[in-house]
Amino acid sequence: MTIAPDADTTSAPVPTQSTYQNRVAEYWNAEENPVNLELGKIDDLYHHHYGIGDADRTVLDEPDPERRRKRITTELHRLEHAQAELLADRLGPLSPADRVFDAGCGRGGGSVVAHLRHGCHADGVTISAKQAAFANERARERGIDDHVRYHHRNMLDTGFETGAYAASWNNESTMYVELDLLFAEHARLLRRGGRYVVITGCYNDTYGRASREVSLINAHYICDIHPRSEYFRAMARNRLVPAHVQDLTAEAIPYWELRRQADHLVTGIEDTFLTAYKNGSFQYLLIAADRV
Ligand SMILES: C[S@@+](CC[C@H](N)C(=O)[O-])C[C@H]1O[C@@H](n2cnc3c(N)ncnc32)[C@H](O)[C@@H]1O
Repeated sequence: MTIAPDADTTSAPVPTQSTYQNRVAEYWNAEENPVNLELGKIDDLYHHHYGIGDADRTVLDEPDPERRRKRITTELHRLEHAQAELLADRLGPLSPADRVFDAGCGRGGGSVVAHLRHGCHADGVTISAKQAAFANERARERGIDDHVRYHHRNMLDTGFETGAYAASWNNESTMYVELDLLFAEHARLLRRGGRYVVITGCYNDTYGRASREVSLINAHYICDIHPRSEYFRAMARNRLVPAHVQDLTAEAIPYWELRRQADHLVTGIEDTFLTAYKNGSFQYLLIAADRV
């Protein structure tokens, strides 16, 4: 055996948050896209995810420009809210005594929806200090801050109590982390028989490797979209057994078709999403799994 000299074994201190995670935090601390803020203002429910279901395209025919903008904004918010409700449906049955964990909670809309639906306690976690402060302020204004709390933490290492949660989820936040690390933390936090739900974009393995569009989406959001297969492998390795899988791709398209025509809200990534969904390289999936 060769013992390396001291000078060669000195390693750099491991940061509590990686350089990549710092970048993600900076992105979300700075993020003020109208498509997130203008929609949220409507009813103080801030969603940072996309929408599902048929869109009312008559909003595009509105002749008055101001009213047209308002109607499009309201319609996109309705579709985003429908997605949050779909996810909340899949968490149950829950009682007001139950606690749920919202991993990568953004400005907090999902936890509020889950609380309003089930009466449960919710802990939301985001890597952005600004988002956590914003979401806590909204919960205070709504008078639910005794039930719904947001924390500036890393969802891979929350420090929350083991087995204390009846349900947990990721709504469009899995593409920022390694799935094995994430699912290990969900499995630790969930009690036996607890429910985990994810809604995510993933690339389609049958198409091959990530397509050009998927790579463009990664660059746009500084994320790393996983293949569909990796969700099921990582769940199986971490005591999460899928009970329901739903391909939402077709239901996601009307939202993007409408959003690409919303001049006041577009971010420039709309056509890329539509191409990726339509060429089959990208899918929008809901997976509900039981913690065994
Ligand atoms: C697209 S947003 C989704 C927000 C929210 N789930 C929603 O549906 O409105 C992605 C979120 O993931 C969070 N995030 C990314 N990496 C994270 C990490 N390692 N720990 C905690 N949050 C993280 C970001 O701060 C951001 O809030």
